[in-house]
Amino acid sequence: VLVFVLKRRRKKGEPPLENGLIPFLGLAYQFSKDPLKFLISQQAKHGDIFTVYLAGRYITFIMDPTQFQYVIRHGKKLDFHEFSNEMASRTFNYPRLSEAKFPQLSDHMHKIYKIMQGKPLDKLTDSMMINLQHVFKWKFSQATDWKTEKMYQFCCSIMFEASFMTLYGRDPVADGRKVISEMREKFTKFDAKFPYLVINIPIALLGDTKNIREELIHFFMPTKMDKWHDQAEVIRARKDILEQYDMLRDHDKAAHHFAFLWASVGNTIPATFWALYYLVRHPEALAAVRDEIDHLLQSTGQKKRPEYGIHITREQLDSLVLLGSAINESLRLCSASMNIRVVQEDFLLELEDDQSVSLRKGDFVALYPPALHKDPEVFEDPEEYKYDRFVEEGKEKTTFYKKGKKLKNFLMPFGSGSTICPGRFFAVNEIKQFLALILIHMDMELIDFKPIGQDNSRSGLGILLPNADVAFRFKLREFSD
Ligand code: HEM
Repeated sequence: VLVFVLKRRRKKGEPPLENGLIPFLGLAYQFSKDPLKFLISQQAKHGDIFTVYLAGRYITFIMDPTQFQYVIRHGKKLDFHEFSNEMASRTFNYPRLSEAKFPQLSDHMHKIYKIMQGKPLDKLTDSMMINLQHVFKWKFSQATDWKTEKMYQFCCSIMFEASFMTLYGRDPVADGRKVISEMREKFTKFDAKFPYLVINIPIALLGDTKNIREELIHFFMPTKMDKWHDQAEVIRARKDILEQYDMLRDHDKAAHHFAFLWASVGNTIPATFWALYYLVRHPEALAAVRDEIDHLLQSTGQKKRPEYGIHITREQLDSLVLLGSAINESLRLCSASMNIRVVQEDFLLELEDDQSVSLRKGDFVALYPPALHKDPEVFEDPEEYKYDRFVEEGKEKTTFYKKGKKLKNFLMPFGSGSTICPGRFFAVNEIKQFLALILIHMDMELIDFKPIGQDNSRSGLGILLPNADVAFRFKLREFSD
C-alpha cells in the first residue's frame, strides 16, 4: 500500500508515465537488459515522449530525433554539469569542481578544452602520428611473416601507449614503455568496473578496484609528472590551473589527470577496435579505404615502406572521406552514450509543431542516440555495415532525414550541445591515423569468422565493448618501391 501511495501520478501536460512495479528500481532491470529494445517498446506503447522511473530517477526520454535540437539548445534549464561533476568526482575520487572552495575551477577547466581544436589540434595530430609510428615499429618488426594476435588487445596496447605519450609525454630516464604498459594493465582492470562505479555501486564491493584506482592516481602525482617530457599543451594547461588551487591536495590533482586519461582513451580504444574489425571483416571496404590512402601517399610523393615514415597532416586526414565514413559507420553501430540533462526548474519544454511537454525540477531528460542510429527510416538497413554510408558525390554526407525533415543531429557518439566531447576531433584523427598506418603497412585477415556481439554493460556510457576478443593475423605488405 505504501508503494502505491508513493508512486507518482501523471499531471496534465506531462508525458505518459511508467512507474514499474518494483519500489526504487522501477523499470531499471528491463532497461539494463537491453536499453534499445526497452525504449522502442515504450515508444510503441506511449509515443515519442514518455517518462520512466529507473533506479530512483524519473527520466523523460525524447525519442524523435527531429525534436533533439529543442532539448540540446536549453543549456540552462536542462543542465548536465551538476550531474557529471558529481559522477566524475565519485568515480575518480576527487572533490567536486563546483565546490565553493574552488572558485571558477570548473570554468577554467572547460576553457582549456579548446586547446584540442583548431591550430593546437595540428600539433597534437603531428605528435600522435610520430608516436603511433614509434609504437607500430615494434609490431611491424615482428610481422615479416604472418603473426596472430587478439584484435582488441592489439588496438588497446597501441592506442593506449601512443595516446598516452602524445598527451602526457614520458619519463626520459625510467623505462617509459614499461611504466605505460603497467599502467595500461591497471587501467583495463579499473575500466572493467567503471560501469558499476557510475551507477553508484560502492567501490568496496568491487574487489580490488579501490586499490587499483589509487595506484593509477599515484602515477600522476605532481612529483612524477614534473619529470615527463613532451607533454601536450592541454595537459600542461590543466596542470597550471590545478596548481593555482591551494585547497587541492596533490592526490586530488593527480586524480584529475587520471580522469582525463580515462576520457581520452576509455572510448577511443573500443572505437578503434570496431573501426578496424569492420574493415577487416569487409575486404571490399578495406580495399576501397586503402586505395584512398595509397592515393594520398602517391600524390604527396611518399613511400610506403615502414622505414621511411609517413607524414599526413590534419588537412590531409580531413580529405580522406572514405576513411572518415568508415569510422562514422562503425561509430554509428557501436556508440551508446546517453545524453542526460537535469531539469533545473519546473517548465514547459516547447517542441516542434506546437507540441510541448511539462517537466518537473530534478527529473532527467534523456536522448538515447542508438535509437536514432538504428532507425531504418534514417539509415537504410541499419544493422548492416556500409562503409560508404557517409559519403555523397565524393564528399562527406550530412543529409539524413526523418519524417521528411533534414536532421541536425544524425550521428551522436560524442554527446551534444554544451556537453559535447571536447576531444572529438582529436579522437577521430587518432583513429584515422591508426587505420591509415595499419592499412598502408599490413595485410590482415580474420582467423575466427564467427561474428562477435556487443557487451551491453556500457549502454548509456559510451562506446560498447565487444563481448569477446577476436583473433586476426597480419603481415607486412610487399612493396615494389
Ligand atoms: C566527454 C565521447 C574521445 C575528452 C565525452 C562525452 C562523450 C564522449 C559522450 C560526454 C558528453 C555528454 O555527456 O554530453 C567520446 C568518444 C570518444 C572520445 C566516443 C572516442 C571515440 C575523447 C578524447 C578526449 C576526450 C580522445 C581527450 C583527449 C573528453 C573530456 C570530456 C569528454 C575531457 C568531459 C567534458 C566535460 O568536462 O564536460 N566524451 N570521447 N574524449 N571527453 Fe570524450
